[in-house]
Amino acid sequence: MHLIRRNRILRQSYAVRSLVSETILTPNDFIVPLFIIEGAGVREEIPSMSGYFRMSLDLTVKEVKELWAMGLKSVLLFIKCKDELKDNKGTEALNPDGLMQRSIKAIKDACPDMLVMTDIALDPFSSYGHDGIVENGQIVNDATVEVLAQMSVSHARAGADFVAPSDMMDGRIIAIREALEADGFTNTGIMAYSAKYASCFYGPFRDALDSAPGFGDKKTYQMDYANRKEAVKEVLMDVEEGADIVMVKPAMAYLDIIREVKNAVEIPVSAYHVSGEYAMIKAAAKMGWLDENKAVIESLTGIKRAGADLIATYYAKHAVQLLNS
Ligand code: PBG
Repeated sequence: MHLIRRNRILRQSYAVRSLVSETILTPNDFIVPLFIIEGAGVREEIPSMSGYFRMSLDLTVKEVKELWAMGLKSVLLFIKCKDELKDNKGTEALNPDGLMQRSIKAIKDACPDMLVMTDIALDPFSSYGHDGIVENGQIVNDATVEVLAQMSVSHARAGADFVAPSDMMDGRIIAIREALEADGFTNTGIMAYSAKYASCFYGPFRDALDSAPGFGDKKTYQMDYANRKEAVKEVLMDVEEGADIVMVKPAMAYLDIIREVKNAVEIPVSAYHVSGEYAMIKAAAKMGWLDENKAVIESLTGIKRAGADLIATYYAKHAVQLLNS
């Protein structure tokens, strides 16, 4: 053969592959989700998320310092609310001394440079396990949005750098932006879970926070996974309403959506590599069926290649350890 073009030339050594690599993971790509519980010295492994823990605030603060030292620059906070504090309106979510508000303060005090993002949705605080207020078996939109806006201001007051509404109510981004502006929080960012699908892959997360819906499912607010154009509509509306970062969630079954969104907007796109995606790799690795380290890097590289500028992942720390080794 006398071939003029031999594609294998650019693959023949580690050196040349490195030089022409199009996608390179760095610690700057990751957002680290953290699950915080009441108590001191508490570190509980989440059964369906082997190797991932719910931690009390004291241990969380230590963890955040360690993450910063490793080069990770952003955390996304979730709290596990006590059952007796849950109600239909998510009242505890607005408590200025609630676990979330105390956590934001403690983390910003201990590690001021770490970017602190907070989950905005009612489900951890809801007696129904839904992201919004329930009336006659329906998740009501507008009353929920009011609470979400107040919740965002409450987190901003506690020192949150970004709020991350994960609820999928209509009009919440503009409502949150206006509430933040009205309270003088002109530096608080909004990372909108814009294209969040009703997915079975959130199962382990709901174990972690004991937040599974008490009745029905989340299909009247989260998106139908059969839809692609709808994701672009959602994202463009959130951009108009004032989102600083838009998100696609989950990630691996939605790489086409990530790319579609990346092509549609000029602002950063994040992807959430969710709890079930973490659990799948963990489980296969435990069985000896997959090489965990390779699966982690390949998965995260694929998500970034698809168009994610940022990736929220339970594998962030593990990935950075691999990248640094
Ligand atoms: C709550 C919320 C969920 C996740 C992030 N925020 C669960 C849900 O919508 O039911 C899922 C994260 C994961 O599975 O890792 N609004």
